[in-house]
Amino acid sequence: MNMIKINPTNASRLSEVDFDNIPFGKVFSDHMFTATYEGGQWKDFTIEPTRNINVHPAMMALHYGQSIFEGMKATVDQDGTPLLFRPEKHIERLNASARRMCMPDFPRDVFLDAIHTLVDTDRDWIPPQEGSAMYIRPFMFATDEYIGVTASKNYKFMILTLPVGPYYSKPVSLKVERKYVRAVRGGVGEAKTCGNYAASLLPAKLAVEEGFDQVMWMDAHEFKYIQEVGTMNLFFVFKDRIVTPATDGAILKGITRMSIIDYLKGEGHDVQEYPLTIDEVKEAYKKGELVEAFGSGTAAVIANISRIKDTDIDMKFDESHWELSKSVKAFINGVRIGKKADKYGWIVPVKEQVEKS
Ligand code: COI
Repeated sequence: MNMIKINPTNASRLSEVDFDNIPFGKVFSDHMFTATYEGGQWKDFTIEPTRNINVHPAMMALHYGQSIFEGMKATVDQDGTPLLFRPEKHIERLNASARRMCMPDFPRDVFLDAIHTLVDTDRDWIPPQEGSAMYIRPFMFATDEYIGVTASKNYKFMILTLPVGPYYSKPVSLKVERKYVRAVRGGVGEAKTCGNYAASLLPAKLAVEEGFDQVMWMDAHEFKYIQEVGTMNLFFVFKDRIVTPATDGAILKGITRMSIIDYLKGEGHDVQEYPLTIDEVKEAYKKGELVEAFGSGTAAVIANISRIKDTDIDMKFDESHWELSKSVKAFINGVRIGKKADKYGWIVPVKEQVEKS
Protein backbone atom coordinates (compact mmCIF):
# COMPACT_ATOMS: atom_id res chain seq x y z
CA MET A 1 0.00 0.00 0.00
CA ASN A 2 1.46 3.33 -1.07
CA MET A 3 0.93 6.17 1.33
CA ILE A 4 -0.82 9.11 -0.27
CA LYS A 5 -0.99 12.15 2.00
CA ILE A 6 -4.32 13.92 1.68
CA ASN A 7 -4.58 17.60 2.40
CA PRO A 8 -8.25 18.44 1.69
CA THR A 9 -9.53 21.84 0.70
CA ASN A 10 -11.64 23.81 3.14
CA ALA A 11 -13.10 25.93 0.32
CA SER A 12 -14.76 23.70 -2.29
CA ARG A 13 -15.64 25.44 -5.59
CA LEU A 14 -18.22 22.79 -6.51
CA SER A 15 -21.27 25.01 -5.98
CA GLU A 16 -19.94 27.47 -8.62
CA VAL A 17 -20.13 24.87 -11.44
CA ASP A 18 -23.06 24.68 -13.87
CA PHE A 19 -23.01 20.99 -14.80
CA ASP A 20 -25.34 21.58 -17.76
CA ASN A 21 -22.92 24.02 -19.39
CA ILE A 22 -19.35 22.91 -18.83
CA PRO A 23 -16.77 24.22 -21.30
CA PHE A 24 -14.23 21.45 -22.08
CA GLY A 25 -10.89 21.92 -20.37
CA LYS A 26 -11.53 25.04 -18.32
CA VAL A 27 -13.12 23.91 -15.06
CA PHE A 28 -10.89 22.06 -12.58
CA SER A 29 -12.04 19.95 -9.64
CA ASP A 30 -11.05 20.86 -6.09
CA HIS A 31 -8.03 18.55 -5.74
CA MET A 32 -4.92 17.46 -7.64
CA PHE A 33 -2.33 14.73 -7.12
CA THR A 34 1.39 15.50 -7.09
CA ALA A 35 4.55 13.39 -6.87
CA THR A 36 8.25 14.21 -7.16
CA TYR A 37 11.09 12.24 -8.74
CA GLU A 38 14.41 12.94 -7.03
CA GLY A 39 17.51 10.83 -6.40
CA GLY A 40 16.19 8.15 -8.77
CA GLN A 41 12.89 7.55 -6.97
CA TRP A 42 9.29 8.75 -6.83
CA LYS A 43 8.15 10.23 -3.51
CA ASP A 44 5.91 12.76 -1.77
CA PHE A 45 2.59 11.35 -3.04
CA THR A 46 0.08 14.04 -2.15
CA ILE A 47 -3.51 15.00 -2.86
CA GLU A 48 -3.99 18.69 -2.19
CA PRO A 49 -6.15 21.62 -3.31
CA THR A 50 -5.68 22.45 -7.01
CA ARG A 51 -3.35 25.42 -7.09
CA ASN A 52 -0.65 27.20 -9.08
CA ILE A 53 2.86 25.74 -8.95
CA ASN A 54 6.12 27.67 -8.84
CA VAL A 55 8.66 26.82 -11.50
CA HIS A 56 12.14 28.13 -12.26
CA PRO A 57 12.42 29.80 -15.70
CA ALA A 58 15.16 27.30 -16.61
CA MET A 59 12.92 24.30 -15.87
CA MET A 60 13.94 21.85 -18.60
CA ALA A 61 10.42 20.89 -19.71
CA LEU A 62 9.97 24.48 -20.91
CA HIS A 63 13.11 24.37 -23.04
CA TYR A 64 13.59 20.82 -24.29
CA GLY A 65 10.08 19.40 -24.19
CA GLN A 66 10.38 16.40 -21.86
CA SER A 67 6.70 16.45 -21.08
CA ILE A 68 4.09 13.70 -21.49
CA PHE A 69 0.46 13.22 -20.56
CA GLU A 70 -2.53 10.91 -20.58
CA GLY A 71 -6.26 11.51 -20.95
CA MET A 72 -8.71 9.26 -19.10
CA LYS A 73 -12.31 9.46 -17.97
CA ALA A 74 -14.39 8.66 -14.89
CA THR A 75 -18.16 8.41 -15.04
CA VAL A 76 -20.86 7.41 -12.54
CA ASP A 77 -23.25 4.48 -12.78
CA GLN A 78 -26.95 4.56 -11.95
CA ASP A 79 -26.17 4.17 -8.20
CA GLY A 80 -23.62 6.98 -8.20
CA THR A 81 -20.55 4.70 -8.04
CA PRO A 82 -17.63 6.29 -9.91
CA LEU A 83 -16.30 4.11 -12.74
CA LEU A 84 -12.94 4.25 -14.50
CA PHE A 85 -12.42 3.24 -18.14
CA ARG A 86 -9.41 0.92 -18.61
CA PRO A 87 -7.01 2.65 -16.17
CA GLU A 88 -4.32 -0.05 -16.58
CA LYS A 89 -4.07 0.71 -20.30
CA HIS A 90 -3.40 4.36 -19.47
CA ILE A 91 -0.50 3.68 -17.10
CA GLU A 92 0.97 1.27 -19.69
CA ARG A 93 0.80 3.98 -22.36
CA LEU A 94 2.08 6.70 -20.00
CA ASN A 95 5.15 4.62 -19.28
CA ALA A 96 5.65 3.81 -22.98
CA SER A 97 5.61 7.57 -23.64
CA ALA A 98 8.00 8.11 -20.70
CA ARG A 99 10.52 5.62 -22.11
CA ARG A 100 10.46 7.22 -25.57
CA MET A 101 11.05 10.65 -24.03
CA CYS A 102 13.88 9.38 -21.78
CA MET A 103 11.84 9.93 -18.62
CA PRO A 104 11.37 7.57 -15.64
CA ASP A 105 8.45 5.12 -15.46
CA PHE A 106 5.81 6.06 -12.93
CA PRO A 107 4.95 3.12 -10.61
CA ARG A 108 1.78 1.38 -11.80
CA ASP A 109 0.39 0.74 -8.30
CA VAL A 110 0.87 4.32 -7.17
CA PHE A 111 -0.77 5.53 -10.38
CA LEU A 112 -3.84 3.36 -9.80
CA ASP A 113 -4.04 4.28 -6.09
CA ALA A 114 -3.72 7.95 -6.97
CA ILE A 115 -6.47 7.80 -9.62
CA HIS A 116 -8.84 5.91 -7.31
CA THR A 117 -8.20 8.20 -4.36
CA LEU A 118 -8.35 11.44 -6.34
CA VAL A 119 -11.57 10.48 -8.14
CA ASP A 120 -13.05 9.28 -4.86
CA THR A 121 -12.09 12.56 -3.16
CA ASP A 122 -13.75 14.64 -5.91
CA ARG A 123 -16.52 12.16 -6.78
CA ASP A 124 -19.16 14.93 -6.55
CA TRP A 125 -17.45 16.64 -9.50
CA ILE A 126 -18.33 13.80 -11.91
CA PRO A 127 -21.18 15.02 -14.13
CA PRO A 128 -23.98 12.43 -14.22
CA GLN A 129 -25.31 13.47 -17.66
CA GLU A 130 -24.87 10.83 -20.41
CA GLY A 131 -21.97 11.89 -22.65
CA SER A 132 -20.40 13.97 -19.86
CA ALA A 133 -17.60 12.72 -17.61
CA MET A 134 -14.76 13.64 -15.32
CA TYR A 135 -11.71 14.01 -17.58
CA ILE A 136 -8.54 12.86 -15.82
CA ARG A 137 -5.25 14.39 -16.94
CA PRO A 138 -2.13 12.65 -15.58
CA PHE A 139 1.09 14.35 -16.75
CA MET A 140 4.84 14.28 -16.14
CA PHE A 141 7.45 16.93 -16.87
CA ALA A 142 11.17 17.56 -16.43
CA THR A 143 12.03 19.92 -13.57
CA ASP A 144 15.83 20.28 -13.57
CA GLU A 145 16.93 23.90 -13.80
CA TYR A 146 19.47 23.55 -16.57
CA ILE A 147 20.18 25.08 -19.96
CA GLY A 148 21.66 22.21 -21.95
CA VAL A 149 20.25 19.34 -23.98
CA THR A 150 20.27 16.27 -21.78
CA ALA A 151 17.69 14.21 -19.91
CA SER A 152 16.55 15.86 -16.70
CA LYS A 153 17.31 14.06 -13.43
CA ASN A 154 14.23 15.37 -11.62
CA TYR A 155 10.54 15.26 -12.60
CA LYS A 156 7.07 16.07 -11.36
CA PHE A 157 4.07 13.85 -11.95
CA MET A 158 0.64 15.38 -11.41
CA ILE A 159 -3.01 14.54 -12.03
CA LEU A 160 -5.73 17.10 -12.61
CA THR A 161 -9.41 16.25 -12.96
CA LEU A 162 -12.07 18.25 -14.80
CA PRO A 163 -15.81 17.84 -15.27
CA VAL A 164 -16.39 17.90 -19.05
CA GLY A 165 -19.07 17.63 -21.69
CA PRO A 166 -18.34 16.34 -25.22
CA TYR A 167 -15.07 17.56 -26.81
CA TYR A 168 -16.72 17.98 -30.20
CA SER A 169 -20.29 19.20 -29.97
CA LYS A 170 -20.94 18.72 -33.69
CA PRO A 171 -19.68 16.49 -36.54
CA VAL A 172 -16.13 17.22 -37.61
CA SER A 173 -14.95 18.39 -41.06
CA LEU A 174 -11.40 17.48 -42.12
CA LYS A 175 -8.92 18.80 -44.62
CA VAL A 176 -6.39 16.27 -45.94
CA GLU A 177 -3.08 17.85 -44.93
CA ARG A 178 -0.76 18.02 -47.94
CA LYS A 179 2.05 20.25 -46.67
CA TYR A 180 2.76 19.67 -42.98
CA VAL A 181 3.29 16.34 -41.21
CA ARG A 182 2.48 15.30 -37.65
CA ALA A 183 4.83 12.37 -37.17
CA VAL A 184 7.29 10.14 -38.91
CA ARG A 185 8.10 6.50 -38.19
CA GLY A 186 10.97 6.45 -35.69
CA GLY A 187 9.88 9.83 -34.30
CA VAL A 188 7.64 10.49 -31.32
CA GLY A 189 4.19 10.24 -32.93
CA GLU A 190 3.23 7.24 -30.83
CA ALA A 191 4.14 9.00 -27.58
CA LYS A 192 1.62 11.27 -25.91
CA THR A 193 4.12 14.09 -25.73
CA CYS A 194 3.28 17.77 -25.80
CA GLY A 195 5.31 18.67 -28.91
CA ASN A 196 3.06 16.49 -31.10
CA TYR A 197 0.15 18.70 -30.15
CA ALA A 198 2.13 21.94 -30.55
CA ALA A 199 3.17 20.86 -34.04
CA SER A 200 -0.47 20.41 -35.01
CA LEU A 201 -1.53 23.94 -34.08
CA LEU A 202 -0.44 25.90 -37.16
CA PRO A 203 -1.85 23.40 -39.72
CA ALA A 204 -5.07 23.20 -37.65
CA LYS A 205 -5.31 27.01 -37.54
CA LEU A 206 -4.87 27.22 -41.32
CA ALA A 207 -7.53 24.52 -41.79
CA VAL A 208 -9.95 26.44 -39.55
CA GLU A 209 -9.34 29.57 -41.64
CA GLU A 210 -10.41 27.54 -44.68
CA GLY A 211 -13.61 26.45 -42.92
CA PHE A 212 -12.58 23.02 -41.56
CA ASP A 213 -12.46 21.81 -37.98
CA GLN A 214 -9.24 19.81 -38.18
CA VAL A 215 -6.66 18.28 -40.49
CA MET A 216 -6.36 14.63 -41.43
CA TRP A 217 -2.68 13.73 -41.16
CA MET A 218 -0.96 11.74 -43.88
CA ASP A 219 2.25 9.73 -43.64
CA ALA A 220 5.37 11.87 -43.75
CA HIS A 221 7.15 9.99 -46.55
CA GLU A 222 4.65 9.84 -49.41
CA PHE A 223 1.49 11.65 -48.24
CA LYS A 224 -0.25 8.47 -49.29
CA TYR A 225 -1.30 6.67 -46.11
CA ILE A 226 -3.86 8.04 -43.65
CA GLN A 227 -2.61 8.46 -40.08
CA GLU A 228 -5.02 10.13 -37.62
CA VAL A 229 -6.53 13.50 -36.72
CA GLY A 230 -4.22 14.39 -33.81
CA THR A 231 -7.13 14.63 -31.38
CA MET A 232 -8.54 11.28 -32.55
CA ASN A 233 -7.84 8.00 -34.34
CA LEU A 234 -9.89 7.31 -37.47
CA PHE A 235 -12.28 4.57 -38.62
CA PHE A 236 -13.66 4.18 -42.16
CA VAL A 237 -16.82 2.15 -42.64
CA PHE A 238 -16.89 0.51 -46.07
CA LYS A 239 -19.87 -1.51 -47.29
CA ASP A 240 -18.25 -4.85 -46.45
CA ARG A 241 -15.68 -4.00 -43.73
CA ILE A 242 -14.39 -1.43 -41.29
CA VAL A 243 -10.81 -0.18 -41.58
CA THR A 244 -8.65 1.79 -39.16
CA PRO A 245 -5.06 2.72 -40.08
CA ALA A 246 -2.58 0.27 -38.54
CA THR A 247 -0.51 1.86 -35.78
CA ASP A 248 2.98 1.97 -37.23
CA GLY A 249 4.90 3.97 -34.63
CA ALA A 250 3.69 7.31 -35.98
CA ILE A 251 0.05 6.96 -34.87
CA LEU A 252 -1.17 7.19 -31.28
CA LYS A 253 -2.26 3.80 -29.92
CA GLY A 254 -5.71 4.99 -28.87
CA ILE A 255 -7.35 3.19 -25.97
CA THR A 256 -10.81 4.09 -27.30
CA ARG A 257 -9.57 2.83 -30.70
CA MET A 258 -8.60 -0.58 -29.30
CA SER A 259 -11.90 -0.79 -27.39
CA ILE A 260 -13.91 -0.08 -30.54
CA ILE A 261 -12.00 -2.76 -32.45
CA ASP A 262 -12.84 -5.29 -29.70
CA TYR A 263 -16.48 -4.25 -29.66
CA LEU A 264 -16.94 -4.35 -33.44
CA LYS A 265 -15.19 -7.72 -33.76
CA GLY A 266 -17.39 -9.00 -30.90
CA GLU A 267 -20.43 -7.88 -32.89
CA GLY A 268 -19.25 -9.96 -35.83
CA HIS A 269 -17.94 -7.13 -38.03
CA ASP A 270 -14.93 -7.52 -40.27
CA VAL A 271 -12.48 -5.01 -38.76
CA GLN A 272 -9.17 -4.57 -40.52
CA GLU A 273 -6.02 -2.69 -39.52
CA TYR A 274 -3.62 -1.97 -42.35
CA PRO A 275 -1.82 0.99 -43.94
CA LEU A 276 -4.92 2.60 -45.51
CA THR A 277 -4.32 4.86 -48.49
CA ILE A 278 -6.30 8.01 -49.16
CA ASP A 279 -6.74 6.69 -52.72
CA GLU A 280 -8.62 3.63 -51.47
CA VAL A 281 -10.94 5.88 -49.46
CA LYS A 282 -11.53 8.18 -52.43
CA GLU A 283 -12.20 5.30 -54.83
CA ALA A 284 -14.68 3.71 -52.43
CA TYR A 285 -16.42 7.06 -51.95
CA LYS A 286 -16.77 7.55 -55.72
CA LYS A 287 -18.27 4.06 -56.08
CA GLY A 288 -20.70 4.67 -53.21
CA GLU A 289 -18.94 2.03 -51.10
CA LEU A 290 -17.81 4.28 -48.26
CA VAL A 291 -20.66 4.53 -45.79
CA GLU A 292 -19.27 6.68 -42.99
CA ALA A 293 -16.13 7.78 -41.19
CA PHE A 294 -15.64 8.60 -37.55
CA GLY A 295 -12.95 9.57 -35.08
CA SER A 296 -12.29 8.05 -31.67
CA GLY A 297 -10.50 9.30 -28.59
CA THR A 298 -10.84 9.66 -24.84
CA ALA A 299 -11.90 13.30 -25.08
CA ALA A 300 -13.93 12.93 -28.27
CA VAL A 301 -15.28 9.40 -27.54
CA ILE A 302 -16.83 8.99 -31.04
CA ALA A 303 -17.00 11.99 -33.36
CA ASN A 304 -18.76 11.67 -36.69
CA ILE A 305 -16.94 13.02 -39.73
CA SER A 306 -19.16 15.19 -41.91
CA ARG A 307 -16.64 16.02 -44.64
CA ILE A 308 -13.14 15.12 -45.87
CA LYS A 309 -11.65 17.44 -48.49
CA ASP A 310 -8.57 16.66 -50.57
CA THR A 311 -7.18 18.67 -53.49
CA ASP A 312 -9.25 16.70 -56.02
CA ILE A 313 -12.35 15.68 -54.08
CA ASP A 314 -14.76 16.95 -51.45
CA MET A 315 -16.31 13.95 -49.70
CA LYS A 316 -19.48 14.62 -47.75
CA PHE A 317 -20.96 12.12 -45.32
CA ASP A 318 -24.65 12.07 -44.73
CA GLU A 319 -26.01 11.66 -41.20
CA SER A 320 -28.67 9.22 -42.40
CA HIS A 321 -25.87 6.62 -42.86
CA TRP A 322 -24.21 7.04 -39.46
CA GLU A 323 -25.68 3.84 -38.04
CA LEU A 324 -22.53 2.00 -37.07
CA SER A 325 -20.91 4.94 -35.31
CA LYS A 326 -24.14 5.60 -33.43
CA SER A 327 -24.24 2.00 -32.20
CA VAL A 328 -20.57 2.16 -31.12
CA LYS A 329 -21.18 5.43 -29.28
CA ALA A 330 -24.31 4.07 -27.59
CA PHE A 331 -22.40 0.98 -26.45
CA ILE A 332 -19.37 2.85 -25.08
CA ASN A 333 -21.45 5.55 -23.38
CA GLY A 334 -23.83 2.89 -22.02
CA VAL A 335 -20.99 0.81 -20.55
CA ARG A 336 -19.45 3.93 -19.01
CA ILE A 337 -22.59 4.62 -16.98
CA GLY A 338 -23.39 1.01 -16.14
CA LYS A 339 -26.46 0.92 -18.42
CA LYS A 340 -24.96 -1.70 -20.72
CA ALA A 341 -23.16 -4.87 -19.60
CA ASP A 342 -19.39 -4.44 -19.46
CA LYS A 343 -18.78 -7.59 -21.50
CA TYR A 344 -15.19 -6.71 -22.44
CA GLY A 345 -14.10 -5.93 -18.86
CA TRP A 346 -13.27 -2.25 -19.46
CA ILE A 347 -14.78 -0.80 -16.33
CA VAL A 348 -13.13 -0.54 -12.91
CA PRO A 349 -15.33 0.80 -10.07
CA VAL A 350 -13.54 3.38 -7.93
CA LYS A 351 -12.70 2.35 -4.42
CA GLU A 352 -10.60 3.87 -1.69
CA GLN A 353 -7.34 2.04 -2.10
CA VAL A 354 -5.01 3.93 0.19
CA GLU A 355 -4.92 4.71 3.85
CA LYS A 356 -5.76 8.32 4.38
CA SER A 357 -3.34 10.15 6.64
C1 COI B 1 -7.62 12.85 -25.27
O1 COI B 1 -8.46 12.41 -26.05
O2 COI B 1 -7.65 12.56 -24.07
C2 COI B 1 -6.54 13.73 -25.70
O3 COI B 1 -5.55 13.82 -25.04
C3 COI B 1 -6.72 14.56 -26.89
C4 COI B 1 -7.05 15.98 -26.64
C5 COI B 1 -7.94 16.39 -27.76
C6 COI B 1 -7.70 16.36 -25.37
